Amino acid sequence: MNNVIAIDGPAGAGKSTLARLLARKLKYRYLDTGAMYRAVTWLALRENIDLDNIQGLTSLANNIDIEFSPPSGDRKGRIYVNGNDVTEEIRTPLINKNVSKVARVKGVRDAMVRQQRKLAQGGHIIIDGRDIGTRVVPDAEFKFFITASLEERARRRYTELKEKGTGVNFQEVKAEIARRDKIDSERECSPLTKPEDAFLIDTTGMSIDEVLTRVINIIRTGGQDLNE
Ligand code: CDP
Ligand code: CDP
Repeated sequence: MNNVIAIDGPAGAGKSTLARLLARKLKYRYLDTGAMYRAVTWLALRENIDLDNIQGLTSLANNIDIEFSPPSGDRKGRIYVNGNDVTEEIRTPLINKNVSKVARVKGVRDAMVRQQRKLAQGGHIIIDGRDIGTRVVPDAEFKFFITASLEERARRRYTELKEKGTGVNFQEVKAEIARRDKIDSERECSPLTKPEDAFLIDTTGMSIDEVLTRVINIIRTGGQDLNE
């Protein structure tokens, strides 16, 4: 699919940071699919749905109303679930802890993928997640698999949380990321895996700018990775 860029990879690899910068540079839209699974998790917890209740989660995912605000203006970057602004609430430790459990349910994934494909119509969009290149848009024009060592991804998340003033412990952040990656990679339905035709970028030791430059070069040269 022309003008669609798929970015997949594990937690804390820098996907959303890269996707946002790339969207600004190319004047593309940005779709954060992780936020959608977080939104379903938020609503399930609020409605006291047992996270082992497959039917309950599937029905909730089929009826949820998730809306993203436009990328510019004073409401930019906000996400709404059934009319509630949940932008901050979907990033709490409680959601981090439960999201992978909800995201492994096939009925939940089918409902989200349907919405994501609808949002991708018309192209000019960067989509990040875990199954974008393998399932959501397997014919995306460019696919990137962004990763980094567990240690570095945990350090990035830890720094981010500390800057926000959240009291966190490095070992806990690392264990939480590792636990989530394991569930995401081992689930039956569209697990986290590198699409065969994706450019693999290991960002360990790379700055955000270096990653962005490398990706832009690949796009500009029509798919040549000069660093390989
Ligand atoms: O930002 P971070 O990498 O921590 O997570 P996220 O991208 O917001 O995704 C949160 C969770 O949603 C992941 O750990 C997956 O369980 C799930 N997810 C998924 O299964 N498929 C996607 N396309 C995106 C996210
Ligand atoms: O979306 P994902 O979970 O893959 O990662 P992110 O939220 O974009 O990035 C996690 C943190 O790592 C952010 O605070 C970034 O500023 C930082 N970072 C990065 O994204 N890329 C680097 N090369 C270095 C740091």
